[in-house]
Amino acid sequence: MNVLILGSGGREHAFAYKIKQSSLCKNLYVAPGNSGTGEIASNLEINVNQFEQIVEAIKNLNISLVVVGPEVPLVNGLTDFIKGSSDLKDIIVIGPNKHAAQLEGSKDFAKDFLNRHNIPTASHKTFTNENIKDAFSYIDEMKSPYVLKADGLAAGKGVLIIKDPNEAKKELEEMLINSKFGDASKSVVIEEFLDGIEVSCFVITDGKNYKLLPSAKDYKRIGEGDTGLNTGGMGAVSPPTFLTKEFMEKVENQVIKPTVEGLKKDNINYQGFIFFGLIKVNEEPYVIEYNVRMGDPESEVVLPRIKSDIMEMFFSVGKGTLKDHKIIIDNNKAATVFLVSGGYPEKYEKNKEIFGLDLVQDSMVFHAGAKYEDGKLKTNGGRVVAVTSKANTIEEALEMSYDSIKKISFEKMNYRKDIGFDL
Ligand code: AMP
Ligand code: GLY
Repeated sequence: MNVLILGSGGREHAFAYKIKQSSLCKNLYVAPGNSGTGEIASNLEINVNQFEQIVEAIKNLNISLVVVGPEVPLVNGLTDFIKGSSDLKDIIVIGPNKHAAQLEGSKDFAKDFLNRHNIPTASHKTFTNENIKDAFSYIDEMKSPYVLKADGLAAGKGVLIIKDPNEAKKELEEMLINSKFGDASKSVVIEEFLDGIEVSCFVITDGKNYKLLPSAKDYKRIGEGDTGLNTGGMGAVSPPTFLTKEFMEKVENQVIKPTVEGLKKDNINYQGFIFFGLIKVNEEPYVIEYNVRMGDPESEVVLPRIKSDIMEMFFSVGKGTLKDHKIIIDNNKAATVFLVSGGYPEKYEKNKEIFGLDLVQDSMVFHAGAKYEDGKLKTNGGRVVAVTSKANTIEEALEMSYDSIKKISFEKMNYRKDIGFDL
């Protein structure tokens, strides 16, 4: 069967790597892909928001399975668009329809869903510019710090955590009145601050049942010791060592099962991954966000730990037989470290030649912001490549990644030397 992956990051390279291992995949295409996916699959010059071109490619290339990497096309209704096209209603799309994707596309929708199904989450209220005065009163009633969230998608930048109430009110005005995040901040969720450790949990669902995938922790800040600006993710480990069996049972019973059941009760048909952004407060899980896709860089540690055939898993999602699918997880632990362009996440230069990837033997290198130009591999983004290793322990896996990194270089290369420091 022919498969199409949509996206261009390390996550999509990790998907391509995993799908290529399956004998069920005949031809693999990635749109638009990157230098890494181009080495193991055929890249198509189509971006993830060109719905017409995507459907044309699906028909011309006889694609039977589409795996959607990022959230934006899902929130914009790509799955509905593909399935609504003539002759494509039976195609398997891993990624939910537009209605279901609101779980990520609207924080207010997600909060309503969480509350309706009694799933633990921070208390909140949602405001628009029409009731901004009520929002100010709400801030006056709350304890610092204040968590302000743009309702819509804002490329990971729409959440502000502010200590001073007056500054919180000023930022709220920026969001609601001066469109700080465009249409995404026409509505703002203000919620209680939760103090705890964050963890990412993942399932795949066919809409009836779900399978638990490995959990992960990502390191979002640019600086060591979790300091400095937020990034797309500087590294990740799987599983996070603080995830005890008892805690995971709570996650399944209090969060995952009520979510899948809640989707059914609400008649929301969902096929794809659900990413639970959780925070652990006094041994209790709270949902801070849903994502309707896999995480990046979490995919670079989660997918390599899936031992069973990922294509069989996708088939069973398509057929609605996920209940009978047996997913096998590697006992090995995994760690990934992102090499980034100097200056990222602020201004940085591109087009630096990358050396030494061919010397890496004990790690997998997933490309993100990299491209081939005149036969040379060059940097093409902030996050350049993710170096993943697997071993008996997270410590060993990290040591292997850091050893591999010694062989890789490009001008102004930067990375965090302390991934996993807190475990
Ligand atoms: P989100 O986009 O909802 O995942 O929020 C981005 C980041 O803000 C999260 O990864 C958390 O670090 C932080 N955050 C979001 N909501 C809360 C909250 N209620 N309490 C504390 N931190 C939060
Ligand atoms: N690593 C967080 C995300 O993919 O949104």
